[in-house]
This record gives sequence, C-alpha cells and structure tokens, in this order.
Amino acid sequence: RRGLIIDCDPGVDDAVGLLLAFGSPELDLLAITTVAGNVSLERTTRNARILRQIAGREDVPVFAGVDRPLRRPRAEAAEFHGAEGLGGLETFEPDAPAEPGGAVEAIVERVIARPPGAVAVAVMGPMTNLALALRAEPRLAERLGPVVVMGGARSEGGNITPSAEFNIWADPEAAAEVFAAGCRVTALGLDATHQVRGTGARIAAIEAQPGNCAQTTASLLRFSQDVERRIVGWEWAPLHDPCTVAWLLRPDLFRAVPCRIAVETESDLTRGHTAVEFRVEASAACHHWVVEANAAGVFDLIAQRLGTL
Ligand code: BDR
Ligand code: CA
Repeated sequence: RRGLIIDCDPGVDDAVGLLLAFGSPELDLLAITTVAGNVSLERTTRNARILRQIAGREDVPVFAGVDRPLRRPRAEAAEFHGAEGLGGLETFEPDAPAEPGGAVEAIVERVIARPPGAVAVAVMGPMTNLALALRAEPRLAERLGPVVVMGGARSEGGNITPSAEFNIWADPEAAAEVFAAGCRVTALGLDATHQVRGTGARIAAIEAQPGNCAQTTASLLRFSQDVERRIVGWEWAPLHDPCTVAWLLRPDLFRAVPCRIAVETESDLTRGHTAVEFRVEASAACHHWVVEANAAGVFDLIAQRLGTL
C-alpha cells in the first residue's frame, strides 16, 4: 500500500478529499497535517478531527501545523467554506485529540522512517508545512515519493487575483521553496480542477450511494455549488482538492505534461502566479502540470469509494 500524508486546510473540498482517502484501502494514511488557510489553524485542525470521526478513522493521526504563512499576513477564504470551514455541516468538538507533536516534524519523521519514495504527500492548502519540513531536513527532497499539490493557475487565470490561485497566493514563498526543492511535484491547478465540475446530477449520484459519508459529501458539494452560483455565477462548483487523491489512485484520469514550475514572489500584481516552463530537457523537468482531467471518471471514483464508507 502507498504511504500517504495529507496536508490540508479543511475546507469544504479538503473535506471531500479526506473522505475519498478514507474510502480508499490502497492508501496507507500515515498522517493528516493541518495548516492555516481557508480558516484558522484551530478550525482546520478541529475539522480534520471531525472528518476522521465521521468516517470512523480515528486511527489516522492528526498533527496541527503552522498557523500562518512564512512571510505574509494570514488570509482566509471563509466566504467559500463557511465561517467554521465545513460549509453547512454542523461542527462539534471531536472525541479524539490532535497528536502532541507538530506537523512539520511529523512529515519529516514519517518520510525518513520509510524507504526512499515510499511516502507520497498530497497538499491541499498553502504549502507552509511542507516548505518548513524541506528546510528542516535536507534529505527530505530525495526521500519523498510523489508530491501532488492542488495549486496554481495558468491558462484558466486565477481565483483570488487575475493571475493566482488561492493556495499559492496565500503563501507564495512556501510554494516557491517547494517547487525549487528538487522533489517530484505534480500540480493540479485551476486549469485542471475547473474541468472537474460538481454539477447537480453528479452530486445526486453521490447522494444515491449508501452510508453517512456519501450523504456528508453530497451536502458539502451542494454548499459549494450554492456558493459558486451566488458569488461567481456558475451552476457548478469546481472540485479542487479531491483531485490530488484521485490522481494518486487513478493517474489515468488525468493528463500531465512535464515542466518546471516557478512561483512569483516579488510582484504585488502577480503574487503567487505559477510560471510553467514546458521548454525543458526531460532530465530537468521534475514537475508535472496537469492539463486535462476526466471529470466523469473522478466523480464516479468518488461515488464508488464514498459508498463503501
Ligand atoms: C483551493 O483554495 C481553497 O479555498 C480550496 O480548499 C482549494 O484548496 C482552491 O483554490
Ligand atoms: Ca484546501
């Protein structure tokens, strides 16, 4: 089984990503690490604990990470995720606590303890934790398995500014460090996730699955659909974060092009823009930029996996 650490800021779509991972027995979930992003660190950590409790997966440890970006003031996206971060779901104080240690140490320790390449990391929020882990342990870059991040904007334009996507914009210095670290990173930016459209029919297909988690997922997706309709004017909500888990499970549902990705950190205007260079020698192309996603396939996968929980 593939070892996996999920680094996230739940977040409505992070929540769906976590539930998809819980329903996927081929993934060995080594840790969930949390970061400040969509809402505060306190809330993202509580929300991760709520989700594992809903799924009956208190065996997966939750580690609280960093409560702010490396250099920027903290920015939230509560208008897209609700004040508590989980849309319309009722939040509560979960039974099981977070682990006593920090997320950065947990990432380093779990990756280094296993053979090179054995542990994948899926990043669903600002990349602060992973950047600090790479700083803390210089061997980490070569020991990491695939790193798959939800972040970035190129042809589609941005969702927080004209040129940037929220996760990268929120902590551009962290993202720049991760892309420069030399590890293999696949980026699912808006070019890919805007193809994965949560339409009413797709949400209904998930709702028709048995079990509590399928119902929870349908409610989360419906919340996002309502928000997009109100704020952006779309009849569907893009499904961002769960694509990272879907890519690990079914890379055949995506088309990714080798490249080198760099992040703008100097300009206020284009802060957090992902500059994707496709004109690179194969040996220098340690990143992949996802250009196509099979949306029907991703939603079928989610419905099927959530129905088993
Ligand atoms: C990303 O930003 C957050 O609001 C979502 O959870 C997702 O990770 C999309 O830009
Ligand atoms: Ca997120």
